[in-house]
Amino acid sequence: MKNRLGNSVSVTLFGESHGEAIGAVLDGLAPGIEVDEAYIARSLSLRRPAGKISTKRVEPDHFRILSGVYGGRTTGTPLCIVIPNENAKSEDYKDARFLARPGHADYTAHCKYHGFEDPRGGGHFSGRITAALVAAGAVVIPALMRKGIRIGTHIAQCGGISDRRFSASPEELQDEIEALSQSSFAALDPAAADRMRAAMEQAAEDGDSVGGVLETIVTGVPAGVGEPWFDSLESVLSHALFSIPAVKGVSFGDGFAMPLMRGSEANDCFAMRGGRVVTRTNHNGGINGGISNGMPILFQCAVKPTPSIFKEQDTVDFSKGTEEKLVICGRHDPAIVHRARIVADSVCALVLCDMLAQRYGTDWLAMPCCADREGDGCN
Ligand SMILES: Cc1cc2nc3c(=O)[nH]c(=O)nc-3n(C[C@H](O)[C@H](O)[C@H](O)COP(=O)(O)O)c2cc1C
Repeated sequence: MKNRLGNSVSVTLFGESHGEAIGAVLDGLAPGIEVDEAYIARSLSLRRPAGKISTKRVEPDHFRILSGVYGGRTTGTPLCIVIPNENAKSEDYKDARFLARPGHADYTAHCKYHGFEDPRGGGHFSGRITAALVAAGAVVIPALMRKGIRIGTHIAQCGGISDRRFSASPEELQDEIEALSQSSFAALDPAAADRMRAAMEQAAEDGDSVGGVLETIVTGVPAGVGEPWFDSLESVLSHALFSIPAVKGVSFGDGFAMPLMRGSEANDCFAMRGGRVVTRTNHNGGINGGISNGMPILFQCAVKPTPSIFKEQDTVDFSKGTEEKLVICGRHDPAIVHRARIVADSVCALVLCDMLAQRYGTDWLAMPCCADREGDGCN
């Protein structure tokens, strides 16, 4: 569907890195959802670059909601958010118009769009566009929270340094998700955070970049959400998560460690807690058969090192067909994970809204309480 994600609730992205503005159109939202502009601004600030570990292109993200909201609530008609680009330096890209940045989308965009693409700053393929995803996500995350659904992403690994895992205790987990929502650098272990920052700074100093892994947890999703086969929760989430630029792997629960386990280790045994069906462990990441089982949904995104690095690299000039050396100008992140974690939260929220709307109906998200869930026999 090109630039559109979702069926019942959909988001369409538009804009280019150095164009006038970027933005998102959300469609299919229930009427009456409270829209918290301060929350949107706060979410955008969590994606904003800061210090030596990020690009020097700092955008103020002065967003405007052009439609779909009246009196602070959604109207139910398409909601359009626009974020102006106020700090683009297009001259940095002029001399390298036809030099393909290794690892970036310059060459593939040229092949697909026959040279009509906007090449400035990666154009439509820039990480800048993820600001629009964050703004769209921030429209719906508070509504999900009112339904008891919480999303948190931490930097599980960066530059070879690992964070600690999410707590297995439900109470501690809620505290961790809350702390992440307040944190400008989303690691659970402050010592690991310092070492990750140092690895990013070192990469920047070396004119290089580092990758990492983001891990997201979602609590409060009722059992029974997701479709069998092609619209399984895993399929739809992966489809969306792979759209985030630089995401090169997605796994759920214990993911790629599961093949190393025996069934007796990988199975999550069922138990009853306070009249609810739970599982004693959560190796499967809260999803069985593509459908949520009521336990926290857990997934990881492998994020590659930023492709634009400042070391000399081999490339081609694709207009002349010659081999060339490339030294990149411009402003770039030495790592992406710390900025992308709020993007992962946002994409996850948008997918969940769509899947929940398919199960409970579009208006469900605007309903005031969870009473509508009672009596379906599931958590
Ligand atoms: C938040 C965020 C920031 C990014 N910053 C940069 C950057 O400064 N420089 C760069 O070359 N790529 C950056 N990227 C990654 C590129 O957009 C991405 O690698 C490129 O579009 C190619 O897509 P692919 O890596 O998925 O193949 C960023 C991505 C995200 C999500």
